[in-house]
Amino acid sequence: MQAWVIGNWKQNPATSHDVDLLLNNLLTTIDAKEQANTERSSSRCQLMVAPSCIHLAAVSARLAGSSILSAAQDVSAHSASVGAYTGDCSAQQIADAGATWTILGHSERRQYHSESHDTLLQKVTHALTQGLGVVFCIGETQAQYDDKQTLDVIDTQLSVIKEVITTQPDLISSLSDRLIIAYEPVWAIGTGKVPTVSEVSQTHQHIKQTITGFAESLKVMSVLYGGSVNADNADSFAADPMIDGALVGGASLKVESFLAIANAFSRAKD
Ligand code: 13P
Repeated sequence: MQAWVIGNWKQNPATSHDVDLLLNNLLTTIDAKEQANTERSSSRCQLMVAPSCIHLAAVSARLAGSSILSAAQDVSAHSASVGAYTGDCSAQQIADAGATWTILGHSERRQYHSESHDTLLQKVTHALTQGLGVVFCIGETQAQYDDKQTLDVIDTQLSVIKEVITTQPDLISSLSDRLIIAYEPVWAIGTGKVPTVSEVSQTHQHIKQTITGFAESLKVMSVLYGGSVNADNADSFAADPMIDGALVGGASLKVESFLAIANAFSRAKD
């Protein structure tokens, strides 16, 4: 099965100049490695980057024709296309900017923008109906982890997907190619703390079973882990058959660590 390594750049880098440097470095390093044939980075691992909205069109244009996909970090809940929604970017505008995917439900959006079940239901529906793939993020807080509520929290968060499937049955057939779940424990994001591989593996197994319960065709859907993934721990996550890739924050801003993570998954899933 193909692995996914996705760089969530969040609100980085600061300038379009720095975005260009990062992208050029990424593309030239991949080219050099492929020409030297030292690493098979692209063979079993699909790369994607999610820049902030202001850089999305430029990044998508730069990546056109390359093997790397581009994604938004969010879409408007209010309208799939146009409307009086100051500050929002619609799914249609994001697709028009050249992105083919969007991250949705990231814990930073849930925390700082109070994204609710209904908001996320709107966002996922708008993204899918505009032809975007969705990387849907779920995960428990430290307090919920300590209270052993991880699976309950995840079930509640996944009910958005269940409702999308119930209300939009025509989307089911294409969903296995256009939906990825990213399990990101909130307490592991940007902290350097990670759950054990066995904990992640069991949680992913639960996610896969739950999603397959919503629609049998989703049995093949990818489930990624995110939260302090780096060049040193990527091999251990990649070795587990339940972990289909990584959603990477900080380490995606350095080409060396991002590609080391990609190579870890590429080797493990070969
Ligand atoms: P870090 O890799 O910086 O912990 O961030 C993970 C994340 O939030 C990716 O979406």
